[in-house]
Amino acid sequence: MSTIATLDALRAKREEILARQKARQNKVLINVSLATCSIAAGGKVAMEAMQDEVALNGLTNVEFMQSGCMTFCFAEPTVEITLPGKDPVVFGGVDEAKARELVTEYVMKGEPVEGIIPVTYQRVVL
Ligand code: FES
Repeated sequence: MSTIATLDALRAKREEILARQKARQNKVLINVSLATCSIAAGGKVAMEAMQDEVALNGLTNVEFMQSGCMTFCFAEPTVEITLPGKDPVVFGGVDEAKARELVTEYVMKGEPVEGIIPVTYQRVVL
């Protein structure tokens, strides 16, 4: 990780972050928890299935991210999806079939899918 040593470097970093946030405004953000417990429960399978379904449907406005622990061990694999202009929604127990359903139903149509987990945090995306 680099350090920020000058005020100009700090300003440049700020502009970089603001530009990245602006570029994401109209995108669907899919954040897959890949903590150890999630990987053990199939988190990588869920992520790969969602990436495959996004490609199969020709979606170009989806950005994938991965995170560490989201504190939902009991419900892994978990996936947080943020539709443009909406609050993030976390889904639990995301196996391969549910991962594909999340893309075709929630991402593409905005239709709710079983397995929503109430969250108690606010996400900061830089
Ligand atoms: S260790 Fe499993 S969610 Fe944190």
